[in-house]
Formats: sequence, structure tokens, C-alpha cells
Amino acid sequence: MKAIILAAGKATRLRPVTLTMPKALVPVANQTLIGYAFDILKRSGITEIGIVVHDLDSAIPQALGDGAELGVKLEYIVQEQQLGLAHAASVCRPFLGDEPFCMFLGDNVFQDKMEGMFSQFLNSDADATIALGEVPDPTRFGIVELDGDRITRLIEKPKEPPTNLAISGVYLFRPSIWDAIARLKPSARGEYEITDAIQILVSDGKPVTGYRLKGWWIDAGKPDSIILANQLVLEELPYTPAPEGNGLITGNSQVSHRVILGEGSQVIDSVIRGPVIIGKNTVIKNSYIGPYTAIGDNVVIEGSEIEASILMKGCAIRNIPGRIDSSLLADGAQVNAAQTRPGSHRFVLAENSLVQM
Ligand code: DAU
Repeated sequence: MKAIILAAGKATRLRPVTLTMPKALVPVANQTLIGYAFDILKRSGITEIGIVVHDLDSAIPQALGDGAELGVKLEYIVQEQQLGLAHAASVCRPFLGDEPFCMFLGDNVFQDKMEGMFSQFLNSDADATIALGEVPDPTRFGIVELDGDRITRLIEKPKEPPTNLAISGVYLFRPSIWDAIARLKPSARGEYEITDAIQILVSDGKPVTGYRLKGWWIDAGKPDSIILANQLVLEELPYTPAPEGNGLITGNSQVSHRVILGEGSQVIDSVIRGPVIIGKNTVIKNSYIGPYTAIGDNVVIEGSEIEASILMKGCAIRNIPGRIDSSLLADGAQVNAAQTRPGSHRFVLAENSLVQM
């Protein structure tokens, strides 16, 4: 079976991070969001993956190439206009052929690795199987009604949701979906909705089943949900003893268990309490790094305290009073205490930046 991962959206809710970086490449616990989709697909034996992008110059092909380093075989499929999830699927038809396939929305992180879902689908006569999770805010999702494990009705972002069982972004289809997609009309928001295509299968009396996800699931579309996904993934870091650091942990430093320290990274006179993941060639000096923090490569943290945050590669934080908490800093962002008088605040911020002081 092949899979497609949809990653052609504009990701406006994650700006300014996504002004320069597609959402699929945003790191959670130092692995890209799309890397979590690869993990799930590989566990079920799927390595031939088409990624839907809005153009071939997108940073995604540049970053992931042919996928060989990640143990997958990637092809890039261009969807010039983002006309909806069903439209995104239809541009993949030549890649998928007339075989069953998996469609994965590239911005979700799951605790469940879903092996059961794939094998159950392949051994069943279902035309589609969809991963479902309970959500507190069902108006933001596609919602289903179930009878046993059979889906009897689907509604995209209902104003008055009949249940809180949401479509989570992993779909398994047989080729009958193509005929349903061909019969679609644009929805009220002007998109060709995959939810409506699946409703056509249901209305035609075709078997469509739900797979209930185990554990947590995060639709990582906003800064807060990225930070929450980072915490949940780091929470699952297995026990590792405190790193020795090969002489790179020096001075009056304390580094706890469940701290992963990348090659060449230095900890000088600092306290690190796991779970924490730190990339390569990062320097942490006179600082405190608290639980649930992910720090990328080539970062400098000096004279500062930081917790439950994501710092991407090349960031620098120097001599900041108070603790930095639940923050998301994209590549190369800098936060420095003023060195000169007047000790005023100075900002260089992109669209939709957030500063809380
Ligand atoms: O997250 C789960 C929800 O995802 C489901 O509950 C909904 O039923 C489903 O419609 C979808 O809703 P969203 O409004 O969250 O979808 P979004 O527009 O954010 O797109 C999801 C991914 O698909 C995102 O990575 C961008 C990509 N995409 C989206 C569109 C509209 C494409 O590649 N092409 C497109 O045309």
C-alpha cells in the first residue's frame, strides 16, 4: 500500500513560524512534524509516500529529498491551488493507481502507532476506515456518528455537533473513493471536502468504519498545540541515565536522567532537568533548562532560565531575567537583555509575533 501526506496548506495559524518554514518541518522534540507521520507509516510497512506540496521549490523537497536518509521513498506531487483535501487526493491519483491507499494529514501527532488500524482495514471489506478521536471542541473538526464501528454520518465542522468524535486526519481508502470524489461539489467554504466524499460512500450503502485512537492526539496547527505535542512526546522519552557528556558537562552543572545531549553540545555551570532534548553543538552556560524543553542545533543559552519550550536551530537567549516558559522560537531567533542604556525593550517581530512581558 502507498500513502500520501497532505502538506500544501498555508498554515496561517502558526505564523510567524510558518512565514519561512512549512508546518510539516516544524520540529516537535527535535523531529519534524512530518517525521511522525513517516514513523507511523513505516511501522505498518508503508514506505512509498507521495507528499502533496504547493510547489516543487517548497522547503519540504529541499529538506527531505528522496527520503532515503529517513528510510522512505518520497515523491512530491504539486497541488497548485489548495482547493480542499479531496482535491489534494485527486491530484495524487496517477501516483496511487487503483490500489488501496492511506491519506495522512501532515500536521497531526499521535500517541497511537495504529498498526491495528492498517491490518484491520486490509483484512476487511470496508471501502474506507478513518481514525477517530474524542475532542473537547468538535465544531473545529469533521465529526462522525457511529453504529458499532460503522460510520453512519459525517459532517465537516458542524455548528451543532451531534457527537465529539472527530476525524483525526488518517484515512484508509479503497479505489471506490475516486468515484465519490468525482461526484463532489464545493462546500460552503468553497473546498472539495474529503468528509463529503466519505459521506457519499456511506449514503451509497458502502461499509465505512471508524478506528478509535488510543491515547492522545494533537492537531498541531497552532503554537500552543505544538508546545503541547512537544511535552507529550518528551513525556514518552524512555529512561536514560544522566549523560556523562565526555567532558562537555563542566563546572557546577547538574544534568538529570532523561536528558538527550547531542554531539558537541556543552553544559557549563547549568542545571538541566529532563525530559529535555538538545541538538548538536549547542552551548548552555549559567542557565536552567526545565522539563519538556526541546533545543535544536547550534543554540546558545546564557544566563537564562527556560522551560516547556521549543528553540529551533541557531537561536540565542542571553541574560534574560525571569523564566521563559511555553515559548516557540523559530530558526535563528534571538532574545537578549539590553547591554546599553537606556535599558529599554527593543523588538524586531514578524507578522503575528507574540511577546508577553
Ligand atoms: O485535523 C483534522 C481535521 O482536518 C479533520 O477533522 C477535518 O475533517 C478535515 O477536513 C481537516 O480539517 P482542517 O480544516 O484542519 O484541514 P486543513 O485545511 O488544516 O488541512 C489539513 C492538512 O492538509 C494541512 O497540512 C494542509 C493540507 N492541505 C489542505 C488543503 C485544504 C492540502 O495539502 N491541500 C489542501 O487543499
